[in-house]
Amino acid sequence: MRFAIIPGDGIGKEVTAEAVGVLTAVGERFGRTFELEQLPWSADYFLQSGVTIPPNGYDLLREFDAIFIGALGDPRVPDNRHARDILLGTRFELDLFANYRPVKLLDERLCPLKGRTPADVNFAVFRENTEGLYVSVGGRFKAGTEDEIAIQEEVNTFKGVHRIVRYAFEFARTRNLTKVCMADKSNAMTHGHALWQRVFKEVAALYPGIQATHYYIDALAMYMVLDPGQFEVIVTNNLFGDIITDLGATFQGGLGMAASGNIHPGRTSMFEPVHGSAPKFAGRNIANPIGAISSAALMLETLGLGREAAAIDAAVLKAVRENQGTQDIGGRLGTRESGAYIVEQIKGDKEQDR
Ligand SMILES: NC(=O)c1ccc[n+]([C@@H]2O[C@H](COP(=O)([O-])OP(=O)(O)OC[C@H]3O[C@@H](n4cnc5c(N)ncnc54)[C@H](O)[C@@H]3O)[C@@H](O)[C@H]2O)c1
Repeated sequence: MRFAIIPGDGIGKEVTAEAVGVLTAVGERFGRTFELEQLPWSADYFLQSGVTIPPNGYDLLREFDAIFIGALGDPRVPDNRHARDILLGTRFELDLFANYRPVKLLDERLCPLKGRTPADVNFAVFRENTEGLYVSVGGRFKAGTEDEIAIQEEVNTFKGVHRIVRYAFEFARTRNLTKVCMADKSNAMTHGHALWQRVFKEVAALYPGIQATHYYIDALAMYMVLDPGQFEVIVTNNLFGDIITDLGATFQGGLGMAASGNIHPGRTSMFEPVHGSAPKFAGRNIANPIGAISSAALMLETLGLGREAAAIDAAVLKAVRENQGTQDIGGRLGTRESGAYIVEQIKGDKEQDR
C-alpha cells in the first residue's frame, strides 16, 4: 500500500516521525509492504518556494491509498494560507465529507470528569467536513473602519447533510450500535438547521433498530460532560463538530490523545491527529505522539487492515496503562521515547506470536 505522508509544521513533524515508525513496525510484523512517500508541503516549503500545494497536488494525492498529515500552522504565515490549501483544500477537493473522530478513554486516570471510566467514554463523532461555515462564502465591507460589515455564510445542502447522517447510521449499523444522536441549533438557525432536522428524521426512519435522538448543540455540550455514557454515535455539522471534539479530546487525556479520519468511502482518505502544530511545543521533544499514532491505526482500519490497526491500538493501550507516555498524560518520556516504547510493544508482540 502507498501512503502520502505530509508531516507539515511544528509538532506535526515530530509526531508524524513516530507514526511512521509505528507503521513501519506494524508492516514488518504482519509482512506487509507500506510505501511511505514524504511530501514536503508545509510553511517552510511555502516560505522558500511561494507554493502552498503544487498545481497537480490534489491529483497526486488521489493516487495514494491514503494520506497521513501531521499538523499545519505556523506564525510566520499569519493568514495560514498554506494550511488552508493543504488541509482544507484536500478535504474539499477530495470530497472527504466524513470527519470521523473517536472519543475513547483508555485509562480512568486521564479523564478530567470525576469518577468516569473507559466504560463511560467511548463514542464516535461524525462531523460534516465539506460544508457549513467553513466554505468561505461571504465577505467584508468597509474593512478596518468602524462601519465594517463581515458576513460568513453557512452552507447546508440536502446532499451534504444526507450523506453524513447516512454515514453515521451506517457506522452504527455495521458495528451493532444502537444509538445515533444528531446535534444542531435548529431553534435559532431556523433555515439551515431545519434541513438537518428533516434529513435526520428521514434517514432515521430507514433504521428502525437504531434509537435516533436529538440535542441542541449547547445541551449536547452539557450532556457530554454530565453523562458521556449515553452516547454511541454523534453526528453534527462542521463548526459544532470541530468544537465538541476538542471537548471530547479532553475526556481522553487532552488534544495529544485524539485521532481523526477525513473519509470518503472508496476513495483516497486522509488521517491526522486532532491537534494543531502547537508552535510553543515544537522542537522540544515533548509533544504527545499518541493522537498521530492512533490516527495511523484508524487509517489501516479504514483500509480493511483490522489486525494491524488492533496491534497498534493494543500497544498504545499498554503504553498508557503502564504510564509510559509524555508529560501531558503524566509520563516522563519525550516524543521520540514515547513512540519508541509503542514500537517496542509491537515488535515484542511479534516475538510472542512466534
Ligand atoms: N489540523 C491541523 O493541522 C490544525 C488543527 C488545529 C490548529 N491548527 C493550527 O495549529 C496552530 C496552533 O494552534 P493552537 O495552539 O490553537 O492548537 P494546538 O492543537 O496546536 O495546541 C493547543 C494546545 O494543546 C496542547 N497540545 C496540542 N497537541 C499536543 C500534543 N501532541 N501533545 C501535547 N499537548 C498538545 C498544547 O498545550 C497546545 O498548546 C495554529 O496555526 C492553528 O491554526 C492546525
